[in-house]
Amino acid sequence: MTIRPFQLERFFARHEFSAPHLLACSDCETMSIGELLHLAGQPPEALMDVRLGYTESQGDPALRATIAGFYDSISPDHIVVTNAPEEAIFLTMWSLVRPGDHVVVQTPCYQSLAELARFRGAAVQPWAMSETPARWQIDLNRLGDLVTPDTRLIVVNFPHNPTGYLPTAQQFQDLIAIAARWGTWLLCDEMYRGLEYDPAQRLPAAADCYPRAVSLWGMSKAFGLAGLRIGWVATQDRALVESLLTRKDYTTICSSAPSEVLARIALQNATALIERNVSIIRDNLALVRAFMDRHAEQFAWRAPLAGPVAFPRLREGSAAAFCRAALEKAGVLLAPATLFDFGDAHCRWGLGRRTFAAGLAALEAYLARERS
Ligand SMILES: Cc1ncc(COP(=O)(O)O)c(C=O)c1O
Repeated sequence: MTIRPFQLERFFARHEFSAPHLLACSDCETMSIGELLHLAGQPPEALMDVRLGYTESQGDPALRATIAGFYDSISPDHIVVTNAPEEAIFLTMWSLVRPGDHVVVQTPCYQSLAELARFRGAAVQPWAMSETPARWQIDLNRLGDLVTPDTRLIVVNFPHNPTGYLPTAQQFQDLIAIAARWGTWLLCDEMYRGLEYDPAQRLPAAADCYPRAVSLWGMSKAFGLAGLRIGWVATQDRALVESLLTRKDYTTICSSAPSEVLARIALQNATALIERNVSIIRDNLALVRAFMDRHAEQFAWRAPLAGPVAFPRLREGSAAAFCRAALEKAGVLLAPATLFDFGDAHCRWGLGRRTFAAGLAALEAYLARERS
């Protein structure tokens, strides 16, 4: 079985560390180890004393206890810490999906959510989102039609990358009811959880709502600490935990000790980290709204409902060509929809970085040059 290259990640590998202006990133503003320890009121010794041996395969117990505090019905035994959320996706697909299985995946999506199911030999059926002039939307009736007693797994992602979509609590419960009808597994990628602009709109974790749900979260997005490479899955299903651990012995065995300690310290200060990042996103949202008003003839704009990304559509022309020109002529990196296998009209914008304003100004100056 072959695996297609991960288009978005290959794109970032090529450009992320050379493009002058990163307007495409989905993570939030990061910080140094010193800044994190300072924010947490911890002395540098908090890290200096960390032993650099192997750690527990399931994840440091103190870290798992801290993570469990974010769920209502998940104990530390029901969490598996991974080396990056990406490893969690890999292990989950490896555990749950068998050759010939039917898997339904919300699209557009972070490519591995579909690709790894395909790599396992599943027949992957897209559950496509659509857009109205006002908003992105999901079609639960359509999902109900796609999911049959033979469907092994439904894969969704809320808040959603790349559209910034967030369902209502009722829609989310209806979605879970569709999974529950046949006992279908549900992988809910909750990587952007915490980045709701109104905390009242935060959905419950799927793992708290449904025994066959797997909730994925990690340090990269809401907390801005992608370099820790710490992710985790939470599930009520103890057999799945064992299956993930059995497979993790063949990938990474355990996580990095300093990263686990720093992740715990960060999670103990989650509110401060999340408030900081939501505030950066809010500021950037105001800038991008004003930009979209000024350029309404060129872009169709549906403001995201949550999270650090938006997916505006070019009214004319190819998004890939537009992004290529923006990079070459203005040094601005935007991610075209072609990287998401979602046509060639949209671009992903990332609103989580403090450098957003400078990148936007560079893009706007370029658009002005093009017009003159
Ligand atoms: C929806 C989604 N899931 C998972 C991941 C993987 O996170 P990480 O790169 O930290 O492994 C990403 C990263 O962009 C993502 O957007």
